[in-house]
Amino acid sequence: MERSMLLSFSCLLLLALAKPTDQVVHGSRSLNSFLEKNIFVLAGQSNMSGRGGVVNQTWDKIVPPECQPNPSILRLNSRLRWEQAREPLHFDIDVTQTCGIGPGMSFANTIRHLNSSIGIVGLVPCAVGGYHGTKISEWAKGTLLYKQLIKRTKSSVKKGGKIRAILWFQGESDTVALEDAEMYSKKLKALIMNLRADLQLPMLPFIQVALASGQGHFLGTVRKSQLDLNLPNVRCVDAFGVPLSTDYVHLTTQAEVRVGKMLAEAFYSFNSA
Ligand SMILES: *[C@@H]1O[C@H](CO)[C@@H](O)[C@H](O)[C@H]1NC(C)=O
Ligand SMILES: *[C@@H]1O[C@H](CO)[C@@H](O)[C@H](O)[C@H]1NC(C)=O
Ligand SMILES: *[C@@H]1O[C@H](CO)[C@@H](O)[C@H](O)[C@H]1NC(C)=O
Repeated sequence: MERSMLLSFSCLLLLALAKPTDQVVHGSRSLNSFLEKNIFVLAGQSNMSGRGGVVNQTWDKIVPPECQPNPSILRLNSRLRWEQAREPLHFDIDVTQTCGIGPGMSFANTIRHLNSSIGIVGLVPCAVGGYHGTKISEWAKGTLLYKQLIKRTKSSVKKGGKIRAILWFQGESDTVALEDAEMYSKKLKALIMNLRADLQLPMLPFIQVALASGQGHFLGTVRKSQLDLNLPNVRCVDAFGVPLSTDYVHLTTQAEVRVGKMLAEAFYSFNSA
């Protein structure tokens, strides 16, 4: 009797030891109980959701070291639950296309690398490229994408954490028609101000990526709007010159890794960071 009890006790002990601590500490339940997080919202179109490593609608599943998962990097999934983040970060958000590597994981790993005491990073993927890309008018206040972003972002802080910044990589679809390109500056400013007002964070850092090339002829106009945007607490990193993939439309995995690093460096240029 005593012997068998001892035996089962040792079995339990072995089981407990065999279980990786990360799973114990970061199980779904504990991830969704109160936990201080540094929350970053990711929005925009396909290059933000990520197509790195995708050829003919198939992802090659290659995850570079900069994009590896880490128990301290979480994502808010489409069911508004926190889970450990892994590539492809937007697979259940940008659902009509095959997602691959985007800048998000590289950003999160670099954020932690640059400040090892920052703690938990919580990513809120919201970007949608879809089939035709998304224009900035599709992100205006009142639209479905805008409402989803606000809903996901508000939900992300319910179990602890602070929204640290919004990351924005969009505009390619606004390079096709002259009137869209000419309106870009005004619409981007309105978007930033509306998001800050609706989230009640008037100085929330906003980091955008200036396009490397566009789907249409009016790239210069959109780029100029992005680079010249004059609002407090807005930064712009420039993707010009990063390698494009063989479809000539999307960023490669290596380019996405670089954009993620640039976004992280830009974040630390804010006084509040
Ligand atoms: C992708 O599909 C096209 C058309 O079906 C084909 O010609 C091409 O070889 C494919 N590329 C790869 C890398 O599989
Ligand atoms: C690193 O993160 C900690 C915790 O958020 C913060 O107190 C500290 O100021 C940060 N350091 C730098 C250099 O940003
Ligand atoms: C992705 O980014 C590249 C580089 O900025 C750009 O040329 C391309 O148009 C973008 N693609 C889409 C679909 O947004």
